[in-house]
Amino acid sequence: MLADKDRIFTNLYGFQPWNLDAAQARGDWDGTAALMARGQDQIIEDVKASGLRGRGGAGFPTGMKWSFMPKAPTPERPNFLVVNADESEPGSCKDREIIRHDPHKLIEGALIAGFAMRARAAYIYIRGEYIREAEVLQAAVDEAYAAGLLGKNALKSGYDYDVFVHRGAGAYICGEETAMLESLEGKKGQPRLKPPFPAGAGLYGCPTTVNNVESIAVVPTILRRGPAWFAAIGNPKNEGTKLFQISGHVEKPCVVEEAMGIPFRELIEKHCGGIRGGWDNLLAVIPGGSSVPLVPAAEIMDAPMDFDGLKALGSGLGTAAVIVMDKSTDIVKAISRLSYFYKHESCGQCTPCREGTGWMWRVMERLRTGDAAVGEIDMLYDLTKQVEGHTICALGDAAAWPIQGLIKHFRPEIERRIAGNGGQYAEAAE
Ligand code: NAI
Ligand code: SF4
Repeated sequence: MLADKDRIFTNLYGFQPWNLDAAQARGDWDGTAALMARGQDQIIEDVKASGLRGRGGAGFPTGMKWSFMPKAPTPERPNFLVVNADESEPGSCKDREIIRHDPHKLIEGALIAGFAMRARAAYIYIRGEYIREAEVLQAAVDEAYAAGLLGKNALKSGYDYDVFVHRGAGAYICGEETAMLESLEGKKGQPRLKPPFPAGAGLYGCPTTVNNVESIAVVPTILRRGPAWFAAIGNPKNEGTKLFQISGHVEKPCVVEEAMGIPFRELIEKHCGGIRGGWDNLLAVIPGGSSVPLVPAAEIMDAPMDFDGLKALGSGLGTAAVIVMDKSTDIVKAISRLSYFYKHESCGQCTPCREGTGWMWRVMERLRTGDAAVGEIDMLYDLTKQVEGHTICALGDAAAWPIQGLIKHFRPEIERRIAGNGGQYAEAAE
């Protein structure tokens, strides 16, 4: 369990004000100019040494991503940082808490990260539905400008750096990094083919790094306390602290900062008061937001909650949005509802996703009611395989994986419905 002294987000629950004075009293913006004076390359080396992996879901090494940025940008082709605050993954709500209660950690991190990658400016793209959060963030950015922390000669460092807050308009797909770039450019938010990756051709065709809110907000503390401190928390290749967002059938749903790799059972016991109705009542868990396959109760209990531990179970840490489902859950209906979500949010640009998500949802609905032939279970599985890996962006995979997890672990439940017996879990819910 993470010791209190190792928590980065000391105002996660908003017990103190978010404003600059209160943030500085908590240690934010302390010696930032000295951190920058270490030099761009040293900052990138420190972030690499910390082991920080992207907190937006994919887990790509953050320091390595920064190192892809050109070291000698020109005024005609500047570098940019884009902070992905378009948090829309079902179950995910950690970036919202950071922005609400600790926006200066994000802004200070955006300055240091932008400086390290020689960026001219940062664009923070915030989810359209986060109305109050966008107001707080803009007010915090304004405070930082007024205090000389941002803008021309930021922090008297000789470095000019702007931070812009840009609000989205409610499309999940704009959280995909290249769709976000399109949207920032004023176009329809549709993903681009990769490569080129944004570091080669990003915003307005310029070198760009897109990082998640949490990835950026932890950077100042990592640099202040040293990469070795961060790397000592968690497991090898899965280092550091992590915000877990636990929802569903636990006694006390919450967002909590914990050590990467904490076993599932410990996470739930320590912070959520256990499973509703006791541990025997646990059915399954989606451990990383809706884009990763579910894990049945027996397999998740002692699993380390980190990238590699959950990958070994055929799932993933994703955004660490832990969705807990007890035996009252109609599991087929739950996954069918996710299928509808992906169908609704598909941008429609590529055929396997545009057609496949609708097709998958319609079959899922028939499996939910039992109005299907047994052979359609395998047909649906084949269909998910036709979508997975055959689309421009990861939304196609994200639509396929939850269904694959359902079929792998709950085929008897689907067959029971088809046989006309009714689902035992659905019955329990009634
Ligand atoms: P990805 O693995 O394609 O890329 C991850 C990052 O690494 C990107 O910034 C990409 O540009 C960079 N990258 C990867 N390979 C590279 C290379 N060879 N050279 C340079 N840069 C490289 O994953 P993606 O599509 O960005 O994210 C998928 C994840 O996002 C999912 O696993 C899901 O968990 C998560 N997600 C999070 C949401 C949220 O609300 N936070 C919403 C939806 C999905
Ligand atoms: Fe759009 Fe889906 Fe293709 Fe992604 S996979 S580009 S969301 S159609």
